[in-house]
Amino acid sequence: MSKTKLLSGHKVVPLTQEEQKEITDSGVVFPCAMVRLQPDGWLLPDPMAAKYCDTVYNFKFRPDDLIVMSYPKSGTTWMQEILWTMVHNPDLDHPETSKPILDRSPDISFDFIFDTPVAQFLKFEAFRKWFAEVCPDRRTEDGIMLQITELMSGRRIIKSHLPLSLMSPDFLDKAKVVYMVRNPKDVIVSYFNMLKKINVGEFSSAFESFTRSFMQDNLIFGPYWRHVQEAWEQREHPNLRFVFYEDLKADTMTHLQRLNDFTGANLTQSQLDTVARHTSFSSMKGRGEPMKDGLFTNFFRKGTSGGWKSYFTPELEQEMDDWIEKHTTKNGMNFKMY
Ligand code: A3P
Repeated sequence: MSKTKLLSGHKVVPLTQEEQKEITDSGVVFPCAMVRLQPDGWLLPDPMAAKYCDTVYNFKFRPDDLIVMSYPKSGTTWMQEILWTMVHNPDLDHPETSKPILDRSPDISFDFIFDTPVAQFLKFEAFRKWFAEVCPDRRTEDGIMLQITELMSGRRIIKSHLPLSLMSPDFLDKAKVVYMVRNPKDVIVSYFNMLKKINVGEFSSAFESFTRSFMQDNLIFGPYWRHVQEAWEQREHPNLRFVFYEDLKADTMTHLQRLNDFTGANLTQSQLDTVARHTSFSSMKGRGEPMKDGLFTNFFRKGTSGGWKSYFTPELEQEMDDWIEKHTTKNGMNFKMY
């Protein structure tokens, strides 16, 4: 029987038939059973939440680790490439430069979707082969990406879509975190287009119903606001940097300089210029997809702020504005919508 209580203190609560139906009926992703981790409501596939959350909680992060955390579609890949290039490749002479970013910067939240039916849409076989090479004596059931990450040498740039409250209380004392956040309107447009492209579960949602699912906290790794809020509350922590996608886009160099201090990479201005060029949208798009086997095909879609404007009807925009206001009036979080 799988666990019902996690080390993080969350309780694993299966969805009722009605809740599961609401998610399925809205045509949204993940054609599999889900659970909520209460009291926060984290939505994750069953039985992966019970299987891997405690491993993540106990994961041995190292003091020089850099973790990129985010809600999906917030600019995670961009930040992974920035940090990896700053730390490992500021002169663009690293032999692994042209490997997909997810081979160089593993995603520990991937294990939560590996064994779901989603895997068949996402061509995860390449990752299983990689696991067999790197971890010949390990079991896949103990987590493919978690174990690849564990065995990785050198300074690790790790990605995770899991929220802070699923990590151990001293997580931020053990490693450094860059939390990426993006205005929710652009997040949902980016998310919608990605799912349409990869057609997970024969994605059949219309933009409006998909957006409502997002606002109703019915997408994996959500609720969005709680995810963001937990990091926002830690924004003064010396080991966390809270970075808005829109700010990074508008003034990349200022952020690279701050990240240079934060990571201790100690790059010269000329190296920072190189990092900026190498991680620009056009350069990253030109080098290809972030995952083995070209999973995403055109993952680098637009890379702009404010693209949401051509997707929202005035009514839906008003609904989302109310939703954003409700969640930001008290905490002073100021999104730029452009
Ligand atoms: P769009 O779909 O709006 O283009 P994530 O990595 O969290 O999944 O986020 C994906 C989004 O970040 C996509 O947004 C992608 O194009 C954008 N992105 C990736 N690399 C970028 C870069 N170098 N500059 C700006 N945006 C980038």
